[in-house]
Amino acid sequence: MTLLSRFRLDGKVCVVTGASSGLGVAFARGLSEVGATVVITGRRETRLQAEAEALQRAGGNALAIAADVTSVADCSRVIEQTMDRYGAVDVLVNNAGLSGAAPATREEPDHFRHIVEVNLLGTYWMSQAAGRVMSRGGSIVNVSSVLALTTAGLPQAAYSASKAGLIGLTRDLAAQWSGRKGIRVNAIAPAFFPSEMLDLYEDSYMEDTIRRRVPLGRAGEPDECTAAVVFLASPASSYITGVVLPVDGGMLLT
Ligand SMILES: NC(=O)c1ccc[n+]([C@@H]2O[C@H](COP(=O)([O-])OP(=O)(O)OC[C@H]3O[C@@H](n4cnc5c(N)ncnc54)[C@H](OP(=O)(O)O)[C@@H]3O)[C@@H](O)[C@H]2O)c1
Repeated sequence: MTLLSRFRLDGKVCVVTGASSGLGVAFARGLSEVGATVVITGRRETRLQAEAEALQRAGGNALAIAADVTSVADCSRVIEQTMDRYGAVDVLVNNAGLSGAAPATREEPDHFRHIVEVNLLGTYWMSQAAGRVMSRGGSIVNVSSVLALTTAGLPQAAYSASKAGLIGLTRDLAAQWSGRKGIRVNAIAPAFFPSEMLDLYEDSYMEDTIRRRVPLGRAGEPDECTAAVVFLASPASSYITGVVLPVDGGMLLT
């Protein structure tokens, strides 16, 4: 295997959650570009279908499956349909996520609960379903956030707690599965990348936070985050498990 070929995923089947917009779309395109068959999920079926067609037009192999990660049944169905169609799940990218800011004394229980349900529980339901069928050499990449490890001026207890929970989940699944099942489990902790989620923030908040907190002085480009996902998904990282890789322009230094 040449060094560059370690980054390829030819013939591998990759499931990407939250691939109807934002980073998930970039991840699916990147994984397809390095040769993978990509199964994309999310709740917005029309957008998923359009993305799957775009991936096919670009010469890739893609399947869209509408699913809500808060439903254990939906998570099982995504993995079952992937197995029925392609006979394997080699990579799972747990990217589906939801943000939301609310002062702690005023946050409604359902608001907190829903964010944790999507970001943390959804990742666990998908990982359980995939972990049952993955063969040795499989890789799971969880999309956490720098907000698991630092604050950024907004009251985001639910989001921060859910993303910090993902780091514990990553560590534990890596400990359970790396040796016994040969499945590596890692996480990335992105800072700021253009997406519908980021559109919710005021421009002035983003400009100020990036100026003060991001040593590289700018938001990231989606491909810069995709490169980290491809690295952790592929044999390029075959001796790496249980880590959290910041993709943050140095934000965690500040
Ligand atoms: N952008 C950033 O700067 C940044 C930084 C750190 C971490 N992240 C993380 O990166 C991930 C992607 O976020 P993004 O920035 O690309 O935002 P985005 O464009 O809002 O994408 C979020 C994705 O999650 C899906 N999703 C939400 N709730 C879901 C549910 N219940 N079931 C299934 N899918 C669901 C959405 O699809 P549907 O609406 O179709 O279901 C959508 O595809 C998230 O986990 C986010 O926390 C992003």
